[in-house]
Amino acid sequence: MKSITLNRFFLCFIFFISFYISAQNQSERDLTLIDKDWRFSFGHLYDTQKDFNHATSYFSYLTKTGFGDGPAAQNFDDRAWRKLDLPHDWAVEQPFSEKGSFSHGFKTAGKGFPEKSIGWYRKKITIPEADKGRMISLKFDGVFRNSKVFFNGYFLGTEESGYNGFEYDVTAYVNYGGENTIVVRVDASMEEGWFYEGAGIYRHVYLQKTNPIHVAVNGTYITSEIQNKNAEVTARVTIENKGNYKGEIEVIQSILDTEGKQIATVSENITAPDFYKTAHYTSKFKVNNPLLWDLENPNLYRLVTLIKQERKPIDRFETTFGIRTIKFDAEKGLFLNGKPIKLKGTNNHQDHAGIGTALPDELQYYRIKKLKEMGSNAYRCSHHPPTPELLKVCDELGMLVIDETRLMGVNDYHLNNLKRMIERDYNHPSVFCWSVGNEEWNIEGGIVGERITNVMQGFAKSIDPTRPVTVGISSGFKTGISSVVEIMGYNYMGNGDIDAHRNEFRQQPGMGTEEGSTFATRGIYFTDDDKHYQSAYDKKPRPSFYSIEEGWKFYAERPYLAGMFIWTGFDYRGEPTPYGWPSVTSYFGMMDVCGFPKDNVYYLKSWWGKEPVLHIMPHWNWAGMEGKEIDVWVHSNCDEVELFLNKKSLGKKKMELNSHLEWKVKYIPGTLEAIGYKSGKKVLTETKKTTGIAEKIELTADKENASNGNVVVVTVATTDKKGLYVPTSNHEITFSAKGGKILGVGNGNPTSLENDQFIDNVDLVSITNFEEKKLASANTDRIPSEGDNSWKEAFKDRDYKNQAPAYVYRGKFELKNNLKTNTVNFFHKKIGTETVVFVNGNKVVPSTEDNQKYVLNSNVLNQGTNTIQIIATPLQKNKDWDVMNTDPGIIQVITPAESWKRKLFNGFAQIIVQKDGNANEVVLSASANSLNPGTLVISKK
Ligand code: GAL
Repeated sequence: MKSITLNRFFLCFIFFISFYISAQNQSERDLTLIDKDWRFSFGHLYDTQKDFNHATSYFSYLTKTGFGDGPAAQNFDDRAWRKLDLPHDWAVEQPFSEKGSFSHGFKTAGKGFPEKSIGWYRKKITIPEADKGRMISLKFDGVFRNSKVFFNGYFLGTEESGYNGFEYDVTAYVNYGGENTIVVRVDASMEEGWFYEGAGIYRHVYLQKTNPIHVAVNGTYITSEIQNKNAEVTARVTIENKGNYKGEIEVIQSILDTEGKQIATVSENITAPDFYKTAHYTSKFKVNNPLLWDLENPNLYRLVTLIKQERKPIDRFETTFGIRTIKFDAEKGLFLNGKPIKLKGTNNHQDHAGIGTALPDELQYYRIKKLKEMGSNAYRCSHHPPTPELLKVCDELGMLVIDETRLMGVNDYHLNNLKRMIERDYNHPSVFCWSVGNEEWNIEGGIVGERITNVMQGFAKSIDPTRPVTVGISSGFKTGISSVVEIMGYNYMGNGDIDAHRNEFRQQPGMGTEEGSTFATRGIYFTDDDKHYQSAYDKKPRPSFYSIEEGWKFYAERPYLAGMFIWTGFDYRGEPTPYGWPSVTSYFGMMDVCGFPKDNVYYLKSWWGKEPVLHIMPHWNWAGMEGKEIDVWVHSNCDEVELFLNKKSLGKKKMELNSHLEWKVKYIPGTLEAIGYKSGKKVLTETKKTTGIAEKIELTADKENASNGNVVVVTVATTDKKGLYVPTSNHEITFSAKGGKILGVGNGNPTSLENDQFIDNVDLVSITNFEEKKLASANTDRIPSEGDNSWKEAFKDRDYKNQAPAYVYRGKFELKNNLKTNTVNFFHKKIGTETVVFVNGNKVVPSTEDNQKYVLNSNVLNQGTNTIQIIATPLQKNKDWDVMNTDPGIIQVITPAESWKRKLFNGFAQIIVQKDGNANEVVLSASANSLNPGTLVISKK
């Protein structure tokens, strides 16, 4: 009796708790990053068998809902697949080959590699009972490319472009209180760009839970107008109702200042939108004396949108924004908050040394910070929408952005992609201009280009009237696109007469969307075409193109031009112009793929930045060149610079604005010294010393990254016995990490074909020739003889009503080798109630963690053909239509990776290290023949 009362009480309690939790949950929006613990395997572009027989069922996922087959099926066995965390780029993991794509940096993945162009990802998540009533969705920031997503076997949709973010509502398909499976099939067999684009889920994935009434996807749009130092902020929110509630809701919008203090709030009751409808609601705020967003002080405000239903909060959505004005003037260029500003920009793609396009957020900071250090204030996302994290960093660090859509056109594909980019990004104060295209050679000079631009431009304005529109144009100035585009985007002075265009279109502001396109190899001072070396002295890349200095002078001298964007800030994979294989990265960057500066960085820093600069090039290690003349250049913003070799003056020279200085110096080892003067006063000294041979490895963590997040960029260099850094060192260094892992290695050498990553190889080996024989009983002590001919194809024409008491099955699998260092697992799938497994005649036992997994020791395995036998009592059908498993499972072979290693290239290499989430520190060790090892301890912040 007592116990019954207690149980009742307990049940009431549980009921109350779950009601409470679910009521609580209803009030919150959860956005959970689900990057961790995915399973991955390659499929195949056209061999359906190698694509796990996906889309081959009698009823496909397009025939009957929920009929996702192969890996798309909820119960597909992915235990043998590789485990990984996102972001992930499978292209960067592959070796290089001349057969690879020039544009994509000769990686053996994607176009032309059908076995490395389809990637399958699977992840299991649990969704609690308490989430019933909430809207559940999956949010992808970007997948390269042509992804299909399935949830519990249900097909959710296809996203073609690799650059769009997308969301899928999965509420109807959820298994509450249990396991749910997300499956993504990625098809990277086509290229969207002519530059490296990676392959796979290379941006974040989130699980989102909201109330049925919620702020819609990209549902806030915040604009501001400034009058007499005060701002009027307009915040439009789009509210969606995916439920049946009818009645009033309260919308409360508040602004939090840069310190997080609420400074304004507005609330109103509105009628909830109807079922599956949206409604707009607009609040207006006065912000007195706002702290404006600008490049030095990127002040950010937050809008908090709170929705209440019957006084209970049901959604809370935060939007970061900035208050600032942007104005282009056809005579005077660009104004930010009323102040003239010259764009000192770079174009960039989204890949980095070692990690391809799978950039951890910390790397976005690293890269934008490097560009800022160079004095750059603007970034063009060439030629596609970036990941949201890049814009977040640009907002936070103060970097103006041209946000660019991928493809020009007027149809749903083009306009919808443009719309999604604008709606996703229009609250970022860093974004000052939309670009609706780049170098569309087929149309740019003609009437089709003009028509398309008119549509795209008008369409962009209809979504966001606050920003101008540009197109990067490389030919046909004065006609076609250039005759109608709002802001003329000149791609290269060499491509047309900019002044002549401007004289004809005097009302049209302009900027150099691409300039430079110069070639340089970091740390190389003599061009050597055999070695694919381009010297780092600034020079015309091609006869009709211009050097960085020529380009900048041209733009700096013309107030009507808002500034320019150099092609490019960083080297990138692909486009190894002026070379081809075995060069795999571009030569265009001011920095190499790692972010190590080439010498042009100091030219730009001198004239773009605010700090005093004095930089000598080249290094002074020229053994064998004694007595021969070497070009010595100095980049500086001092008024005068005097150069000395071993204390002997080589003359003082005056620096012209936006220039550099040159000396011809006969090489003698020793010290080259430059002294910089401003207004006659010595302000800076810089030396280049001839060093001894490299003796020690130096590891240095990028300070900012080390204290900010889990991913740290580490520079590897060598020093001589005096501790001088050796600029010519090319040693191969081996690395290992404890308390974390290495994500990638690089060195900025465009011809390096070394691995970017060293990761265990996971091979899946099928069991073939699967046959069966009836047994009178499941005697499992010894395996039945092989030698008779009563074996037949397994499960063929099986009469499930009259099965034998037991069966023995046999199959074969091939092993390329039988290395002791490999791990070989058999992931069995149940084909009987009781099973016993023999490999090459040896009975094997299941592992303790999974009774369907067998770890196969190398002493039971052979190189070449292996035989597997399974004795099983048969599974019985409950209903005639039950589909019985006939697949015995798969063999997984894990070949451990070699040690991480990389050669230094002209003194430098880079390692990207990720601390384990719970480790206090990561210890990185580096060693090489003939060098003292280096160790670096990176502690938790
Ligand atoms: C431009 C193009 C860039 C890049 C560059 C290389 O024409 O817009 O994406 O290809 O040339 O010089």
